[in-house]
Order: sequence, then structure tokens, then C-alpha cells
Amino acid sequence: MARASFHRIKSLKQNNIGIVAITAYDASFARYFDKLGFDIILIGDSLGEVIKGQKNTHNVTLENMIYHSKAVSKAVRQSYLISDLPRESSLNKITAFIHSKKIIRECKVNMIKIECNKNNIDVVEHLVGKKIPICCHLGLTPQLISQKKDFRKYGKSTKEFSSIIETVQKIQKIGVKMILVECITDLLAKELRKITSIPIIGIGSGKSCDGQILVSYDILGISYNSIPKLVEKKYLKIKDFESRIKKYIYNTKNFL
Ligand code: KIV
Repeated sequence: MARASFHRIKSLKQNNIGIVAITAYDASFARYFDKLGFDIILIGDSLGEVIKGQKNTHNVTLENMIYHSKAVSKAVRQSYLISDLPRESSLNKITAFIHSKKIIRECKVNMIKIECNKNNIDVVEHLVGKKIPICCHLGLTPQLISQKKDFRKYGKSTKEFSSIIETVQKIQKIGVKMILVECITDLLAKELRKITSIPIIGIGSGKSCDGQILVSYDILGISYNSIPKLVEKKYLKIKDFESRIKKYIYNTKNFL
């Protein structure tokens, strides 16, 4: 079977079938997840924590992303592939474009994910204008924050709720193809799903999104740093790895 097209991911949304996504950083896990039927595999900059053993994602480099994206891409036959744009690449629109193009060309991934908020919409607009397929990561954006207090739920206050809605309306208009929301309230996720036609993938954002994503090392219970609370305990209680992953796929596919 050929790699999933974006059309296929969109048709899952249109048919109310949950989109199931996971992170991978190497060829062995990537092939294993691909064979299990994940719709999307993300080469996430979470590799800074789970592979490099750092305390956050801030020092992940373009070279790191290319090295791991190449390994994953080599092994994947069916899943749709997304690579993160690291923090160092996202600071201005020219660098963001050159680095995105390099990742897509050298690693043969389908899409680039960039963390965004109301302050860097110009970078997103530039990338979309240059025909880079973009997934915007909103809500809790680990690259853009450094303080402990910023690791929280987003969209609780009316001001923040409206601000995220406004950002999503803008990026939808620009032509962003996918949205990943991290740690937003269930209410906000429901509202976003109502107002957009773009697939919305959630992590720690309730069950109302079009799909779910988890960091693979978290669901396997082996992450170097602590396992975030958003990884439902019910998965971690299951004894063997494969059953955890299969339960996650089943739950996501059947929640809508
Ligand atoms: O880098 C990453 O793993 C992510 C998660 C939110 C899925 O962006």
C-alpha cells in the first residue's frame, strides 16, 4: 500500500473516523507503528527529551530532525509522515522556509509541524505561501515557553479561549492543512471542531478532536523525563507494550 495522502486523512475526519497518530524517531519503531496501521507518524522534537535526555525540546537542531526523519521515512510504507520544525528553525520566516524545504526534500516527509501562536502567524503565512504543507501546533507549545507555570491547560479564561479561536480562524484562512492542539480545554476543542474544516489532532485536549496523538515513549512508559498526566493510566496498567498500543488505536478509532 502507498503512503497515505492528505486526502485520506481528511476523509477520516469527514467520515467521523478517529485519526490515530503517534511519534517515532527510528526505523524499527516506525516500521512497527506503520504495520499496526497508524494514520500519522510524527517525528516530534520530543526527541530532545526521549532520545537526547534533555529537559525540554529547546536544543533540538535541524540536523537532529533530519537524522531521525530520514530513519523513520525509510521504514514507513503507509502512514502519513509529519516532521517537527525545531525551535532554531522557527525564529524567522526565511530560515523557517529554507529548513522546512530541506526536511521535506531530504527526508521525504509529507508535512511540517510548527508551533504557533498569535505572534508568529507571519511565519506560517510565509510557509503556506511557499507551498509547504503545514500543521500548526497550538495551546501548550513547549518550544515557545520556558517557565514551569506555562505547562498548564489552555483556553480556560474567556480571553485565551477567544484568542486561540481567532488564531485558528486566521490560520485556516491562510491555508494551514492540519492543527495539533496540546492541553486545551475540552470546551475549546469542541468549539474548534465546529468552526474548522481542518483535521484537529489532540493531545491532552479531551475526546472531541478529530484524532489523538501520543508520544510513543510515554505510552510505553519508558520516557526519560516523567510521564505526563495526559497519558491515561489505563494504558500504562496494561502489561505488554503491544496491547497498550492496540488499545490506544482502538479507542481513538471508535470514540466519535
Ligand atoms: O514533539 C512531539 O512529540 C509533539 C507532541 C505534542 C506529540 O509535538
